[in-house]
Amino acid sequence: MCKPGYFEVSYVINPWMAENIGKVDKSLATRQWNQLYDTISGKANIRLIEPVADLPDMLFTANAGLVTKNHEVIVSSFRHAQRQGESQHYKKFFADEKYQLKSIDTNIIFEGAGDALFDADGELWFGSGPRSDAAAVREIAGTLKVKITALELVDPRWYHLDTAFCPLGDGYALAYKKAFSADSVNTIQKKLGEKVIWVSDEDALNFACNAICLDHQVILYRASTELKAALKRYNFTVIEIDVSEFMKSGGSCKCMTLEI
Ligand code: ARG
Repeated sequence: MCKPGYFEVSYVINPWMAENIGKVDKSLATRQWNQLYDTISGKANIRLIEPVADLPDMLFTANAGLVTKNHEVIVSSFRHAQRQGESQHYKKFFADEKYQLKSIDTNIIFEGAGDALFDADGELWFGSGPRSDAAAVREIAGTLKVKITALELVDPRWYHLDTAFCPLGDGYALAYKKAFSADSVNTIQKKLGEKVIWVSDEDALNFACNAICLDHQVILYRASTELKAALKRYNFTVIEIDVSEFMKSGGSCKCMTLEI
């Protein structure tokens, strides 16, 4: 994770940010981030990367890169100039932590674990569209030995895969239909069958799919009573954390973390 030291909404690179320039309550943001930190730290060890001035989105560490269980990492190549300065800091962090840095063609945009999610079986789900290039699949497949399912995101509001899709434990996943092309909806349905939990518009707008799943606990911003009931049926409990200030930047709980 990365403390929200320089967090603000000072530019617009996704639709959620448009109405929110200069509107972040910074002390509230710090309190909210601390609550997320405290919640996760009871369940996992957390490493912190130092925030850097003029990189207000750096706390969304999901976008640092794609990290494998074998201590390899592909550091992101960001689409927008406003975030491109983050990559060098993430590279240094992973080099210091003795990760093996794997490079892919830097002309190809790839925004890391924002658009590439491992499921419990170690298979990778990849989403292209508003951010990562579809061509990144070939690059990832050529670099890491992983099985990849490629999906296409079609709505700018669900601009990263992790805003509309979330592998949980036991083969289950949360997903939002309208974020995906018809082909991708079919792909998800075919691969997961009854184990896909399609979320409502309301839950999608509250970024319910941007969840951290630790054991059977699902940490997210907000979930409807229906979604909580559905999750309960499959043995998952929900922990809601108010991350309103980060929602102003188009980010929620999961984007603020990267599993390493
Ligand atoms: N403001 C950030 C951006 O648009 C939010 C990133 C959220 N990250 C994520 N993995 N969904 O890049």
